Amino acid sequence: MIDADALRAHDASLFAARRARLLATFAGEALIPAGVPFPKNYPANPFPFRASSHFLYLVGLPLPGAQLVLRGDDTTLYVEAPAADDELWHGPTPSLDDLARVTGLRVAPLDAFAPLSPDAAVLLPQGERARVTAAGLLRREITPPTDEDLALQDAMIALRLVHDAGAIAELRRAAEATVAAHRAGMAATRVGVTEFAIAAAMEGELMRRGMSTSYGSIVSVRGEILHNHSHAGTAKEGDLLLADVGAETGLGFAGDVTRTWPVSGRFDGPQRALYEVVLAAQKDTIARCTAGTRYRDVHLAACRAIAEGLVGLGILRGDVDELVADGVHATFFPHGIGHLLGLDVHDMEDLGDRAGYAAGRERSTQFGLGYLRLDRDLQPGMAVTIEPGFYAVPAILRDPERRRVAKDRIDFATLEAFASVRGIRIEDDVLVTDGAPEVLTAALPKDAAAIEACVGA
Ligand code: GLY
Ligand code: MN
Ligand code: MN
Repeated sequence: MIDADALRAHDASLFAARRARLLATFAGEALIPAGVPFPKNYPANPFPFRASSHFLYLVGLPLPGAQLVLRGDDTTLYVEAPAADDELWHGPTPSLDDLARVTGLRVAPLDAFAPLSPDAAVLLPQGERARVTAAGLLRREITPPTDEDLALQDAMIALRLVHDAGAIAELRRAAEATVAAHRAGMAATRVGVTEFAIAAAMEGELMRRGMSTSYGSIVSVRGEILHNHSHAGTAKEGDLLLADVGAETGLGFAGDVTRTWPVSGRFDGPQRALYEVVLAAQKDTIARCTAGTRYRDVHLAACRAIAEGLVGLGILRGDVDELVADGVHATFFPHGIGHLLGLDVHDMEDLGDRAGYAAGRERSTQFGLGYLRLDRDLQPGMAVTIEPGFYAVPAILRDPERRRVAKDRIDFATLEAFASVRGIRIEDDVLVTDGAPEVLTAALPKDAAAIEACVGA
């Protein structure tokens, strides 16, 4: 259901300009489906509908089941015609004429879908049902992608990599709400509070703004579990709480921020020492996000900063460059330094490394570096996250292969003194510019003392 406010706020010229830019580089016929709702437990009880990001980028309205067809100057938006009882269950539904007036597009019912040319390209939506529909409309197999599909993907990637003014405005909205959510989470934290209560305070702040989350929130004292979506724990004295929560705006753009704070409001000595290592790495790495810099080099600089900090604390031993070259640091910092940010929290990850990796670059097979999601040269208008971390993951610390790689370069006795740290991550959203990088989420404190002042306040 499209609400009336979304229709009133719709900026048709922004989406027309994006479609024109796509057609300037992709001359063929293109099908861009919005996708369909996913049933939660039966079809009439679906998960909240999230349209395909490619569709949202070009149309700006989350219309379930809609199909955008681009054929040169002849662009048509096919939509499900309202059912007779839609108004009873869902309230007033925009008519096809309403949608045509608001979007400036020719709008037709799906029943009138005109056959596509045999070499039409598609940007596939998520979900089996929507993919089967796309295959039916194209009258061909949809995997593997055709040369035309790949050309359309490349044209879309080129557009979405560099954010236009409309996208940057949305990223700023997402950042503002995300910052507010984290402040609310810090304020709600005290000894004995459940992770659910802290998550509710954070997500509630988004909901108050009419926004949702751009991914499953991570709010946990088990920060070493990288994608930990359980909120079943309770915040105890001495715990660090890791919160990775981001807003999604009405037009679908994402925020993605992590902060780690002490439940008691005071970092203990080992926590503070490791926090400072991660923070120094984060600040140094953000400063490197300048136009022309290869993102992989930004990642490797972060690895060096973490390794250097851990050598300083006595957790690692050896030469920093060798530790990084051998991947020893990855025992504690196993993931990439960040990723593209836009309409998707990992922007365009539906297109795989075609989006994240420049032509001719491939993922490393090394543990750690292999999890790097982005290896492009940064350009003004790109948005990325910068999110170094330190994790004590029991399975990784025990892993025979990691131990073989590390040889005697991890001091496990010293590590024991840091047992009050399970996971620390500090993540901000960064816009690459012609000059210094702009931290979109800079309003959220991250210095240790400033974080302490926010906890329970
Ligand atoms: N929130 C997911 C990530 O940081 O990549
Ligand atoms: Mn991230
Ligand atoms: Mn995150």
